[in-house]
Amino acid sequence: MPRIAVIPGDGIGVDVIAEGTKVLRRIAEISGIDIKLDFFPYGADHFLKTGETFPQDAARSFSENYDAIYLGALGDPRVPSNQHAADILFGLRFGMDLYVNYRPVKLLDARLTPLKDKTEKDVDFVIFRENTEGLYAMMGGNFKKGTPDEIAIQEDVNTYKGVHRIIDYAFQFARKNGHKKVTMTDKANALTYGHGLWQRVFKEVQANYPEIEPEHMYVDALVMQMVKKPEQFQVIVTCNMFGDIITDLGAQLQGGLGMAASGNIRPGATSMFEPVHGSAPKYAGKNIANPFGAVLTAAMMLEHISYAAEAALIEKAVLDAIVNDKTPQELGGNLGTREVGDYLCEALGKLA
Ligand code: IPM
Ligand code: MN
Repeated sequence: MPRIAVIPGDGIGVDVIAEGTKVLRRIAEISGIDIKLDFFPYGADHFLKTGETFPQDAARSFSENYDAIYLGALGDPRVPSNQHAADILFGLRFGMDLYVNYRPVKLLDARLTPLKDKTEKDVDFVIFRENTEGLYAMMGGNFKKGTPDEIAIQEDVNTYKGVHRIIDYAFQFARKNGHKKVTMTDKANALTYGHGLWQRVFKEVQANYPEIEPEHMYVDALVMQMVKKPEQFQVIVTCNMFGDIITDLGAQLQGGLGMAASGNIRPGATSMFEPVHGSAPKYAGKNIANPFGAVLTAAMMLEHISYAAEAALIEKAVLDAIVNDKTPQELGGNLGTREVGDYLCEALGKLA
């Protein structure tokens, strides 16, 4: 029995995770899998009520008691520092050492991309973002804070182990899925120490995958190519900061942040799955948020815990909704968030 910890989070996170869990319950019913969903309140409301952002032992307890975590967006204007969001998100990513951030860029319908003359076959690749170090390592500080002489330092931490394991994961993925090329993107022409390490490790790891072509692109050139000729990419691997930036671009190529799914993975251990978009407080509770990214994230989570057939069925239902214009306003349709979820549940029954 798969056990899933659900953290709906803040803002539209709550709206779309409701649809994701609706779809999970429906697929459980259809395929006779007993999926256990336990809800956790961590988010702005919980923080404002209790003063607790994320309990110290939560990450360990999730690892021990659950097969996966399904997380909604975090962020709320009532918590201007967004401390709760950082504690929860980084508490999970760092606390559970979820070193792979897996973000597919897959266009489901040519009408959704802002790129002229590009279709589904042109926009179909995956990005692996290092998820535990780099500029996100929280090393550094401020000196003479608040004075005209202030110095702020944010260290970019690249460890051999950290770089090696994400690059190796990208090659493993490529081999498993029959991809012929892995593109590593960095800024080694300027960030010589850290990204020099990426260059060396990339060569070292590639030697174990002789059938896969190693390609290197500086990140400034890569973003240009993602727009100009996305069909050239299969698998991209990069550091935490660049991965954050290029996956937002990737999300737009597939129809916007509301379409994008992501997995925060530690191979062989409990992993966490979250849609890429933010909490968009302005749109919260209005039944207008796009739930497809959250639903596709639920599918990714099922696939990860070995329910590939069920995941494929959910993806089929999403595609069905999109080609039949059963979409939210953001995609040109006229359905509310909940109505999209209802349509998907109905479609699942028909497609099964
Ligand atoms: C993401 C987000 C987060 C990140 C923010 C909310 C801290 O942008 O998951 O891409 O930078 O990793
Ligand atoms: Mn981001």
